[in-house]
Amino acid sequence: MRCIGVIGAMEAEVSGLKEKMQDVQVTRKASMEFYEGILADKKVVVVKSGIGKVNAGICTQILIDLFGAEVIINTGIAGSLNNAVNIGDIVISTDLVQHDMDAVGFGYPKGQIPQMEEFSFRADEALRRIAVQACREVNPEIEVFEGRIASGDQFVSSQAIKDAIVKEFGAYATEMEGAAIGQAAYLNGVPFLIIRAISDKADGSATVDYSTFEAAAIEHSIRLTYRMIQDLQA
Ligand code: ADE
Repeated sequence: MRCIGVIGAMEAEVSGLKEKMQDVQVTRKASMEFYEGILADKKVVVVKSGIGKVNAGICTQILIDLFGAEVIINTGIAGSLNNAVNIGDIVISTDLVQHDMDAVGFGYPKGQIPQMEEFSFRADEALRRIAVQACREVNPEIEVFEGRIASGDQFVSSQAIKDAIVKEFGAYATEMEGAAIGQAAYLNGVPFLIIRAISDKADGSATVDYSTFEAAAIEHSIRLTYRMIQDLQA
């Protein structure tokens, strides 16, 4: 059976999945706890990576090296960068870019990692299709979008910063891990998908909205991730 790695940055983003797991064995590595077991009859490893790109990249590499993960799914929340994408809605990644990667001084476009061919890291198309379908089934009251996600080591909570990221990258959502997971998965040739439910609009109201809507958004992402795991081939 192939192993599905599931990453959430925060405990609240993975606890709903851990609760449903059977035959769990916990392994500690790099200060992270990897929950290995069975979920919806699939072999999974569910882990809280911690926040930010470095934690997320390390976590992804461990899932691949230590557990042989052949699929990586990231579930969590994000700020909306698109007026059509409302709080509670889901964004499924098409591709991931690091909005805080800046080698402009060397002639690279903002976001481009120097000396790498790819500007952005593309999510797996088959996983995208399964996720969109699953989302319509389990979250019929919200909209599901497919679009670029821009990640950075920054909680975006100002209109000016939001506008700059939108102008530069045309992304649908911003968060703090997806592009690192995408980059690590890409480097290892492992298919991945980033699933994010919107908790805020990444503007001046983001901090207050985040606290208000975090739990409901997480619920949407968890519900979708669980259905996806049910739908994936073992
Ligand atoms: N995660 C949820 N909302 C976010 C925001 N506004 N910026 C970065 N990460 C987020």
